[in-house]
Amino acid sequence: APTHTVLGIESSCDETAIALVTSDREILAQRIASQEAEHAPYGGVVPEIAARAHAERLAPMLYAVMEDAGLGLDQIDAVAATAGPGLIGGVMVGLVSAKALAMAADKPLIAVNHLEGHALSPRLADPALGFPYLLLLVSGGHCQVLGVAGVGRYRRLATTIDDALGEAFDKTAKILGLGYPGGPAVEKLAREGDPHAVPLPRPMKGSSEPHFSFAGLKSAVLRAHDSGEYASADIAASFQQAAVECLLDRLDKVLSREGEFPALVVAGGVAANARVRGALETFAASRGMTFSAPPMALCTDNAAMIAWAGCEKLAIDPDFAGDPLDIKARPR
Ligand code: KG4
Ligand code: ZN
Repeated sequence: APTHTVLGIESSCDETAIALVTSDREILAQRIASQEAEHAPYGGVVPEIAARAHAERLAPMLYAVMEDAGLGLDQIDAVAATAGPGLIGGVMVGLVSAKALAMAADKPLIAVNHLEGHALSPRLADPALGFPYLLLLVSGGHCQVLGVAGVGRYRRLATTIDDALGEAFDKTAKILGLGYPGGPAVEKLAREGDPHAVPLPRPMKGSSEPHFSFAGLKSAVLRAHDSGEYASADIAASFQQAAVECLLDRLDKVLSREGEFPALVVAGGVAANARVRGALETFAASRGMTFSAPPMALCTDNAAMIAWAGCEKLAIDPDFAGDPLDIKARPR
C-alpha cells in the first residue's frame, strides 16, 4: 500500500492542535496549544473565547508544524479536520482553515468526526490492534462505549444520560476544594483514603439499559461533604471506587447484550487514572479480552488522531477525492 501523509487539525474544544501523520504510523510533527489559562478565570470553557483563540493560533502553528517536518503543502496527500461534534465556533475555525488549505494545495479534504478520531487512535499507537474492538471513551466531554468494527463502522453501544465521568471527577474535585483539572487531584487524594468509608450510590447499576449516569453520584458526594462526617480523602477514595464499579457494571451489561469482543481499549483523559486502568485490565483479563490504552498524549484531545483517521480512510479508499468543500461543521 502507498504511504500517505496527512495533515490533521483539531479545534473542537479548548485544545488547538495540528499534526502531520503518515500511514506508516509516524507522527512527523505536531503542535498542541492548551487554552486552559484563557478559560480558567471563568471556571469552564467559554465558546467565544475558544473560537477566537483557535483563530489566532492555527496559522502560526501550521507554519511551525510544516517547518518541523521540513515539508511543503505539495508533499502532503490530504488535509483532515474535525467537523464536529464540538463547540461550533471552534469547529468552524478548524474546518474552514482545512478547506482553504485543501483548495490551495489541491488536495482532498477529509472531514473527521471527533469521536471517530478517538475511536481509531488506538490503532495509531498499536499496529497489532485489529478490528473489532470495544472502546471505552471516558473524558471530560464524553462517556461512551463504542463497538469499532472497521473504518467507518462504529456503533455507539452505551452513553451517559447526564454527566461524563471526567466531569464527575472535576465536580468532585471542586466540592472537595482541590482545584481544576480535578481528575489527577482526586486520584492523588484517593490514595490516602478508604474506598469503602463513605456510602455512595452506583447509578444505573443492574439497569437493563447499558447507559451511564454520574449526576447522582456527584450529588451524593456533595451531601457527604456537607454532612461534615467524612474525611476528604475517604470521600475521594469512595467516589473513585463507586465510579470504577459503575464502569465495570456497564461494560458487563454491554458485553451481555452485544456478545464477545476480542479486545477492550480505553481512551480519554480519565484513562490516565491508574485505578480505572487497573480495574479495566483485570476486567478484560477475566473476559479473555486483550486490554490496551494508547499513550496519554493520544488519549486526550489531539490532532494526530484526526490525521490518523484521514490515513485510515485513504487506506481503504486510495482514490478518495475528498469530502465536498461545502461540508458543514456540526455541533452534534
Ligand atoms: O480527554 P480530555 O483531556 O479532554 C476532554 O474532555 O475531551 O479529558 C479531560 C478529563 C478531565 O475531566 C480530567 O479531570 C480527567 O479527564 N482526568 C482524570 C485524570 N486525569 C485527567 N480523571 C481521573 N483521574 C485522572 N488521573
Ligand atoms: Zn475528545
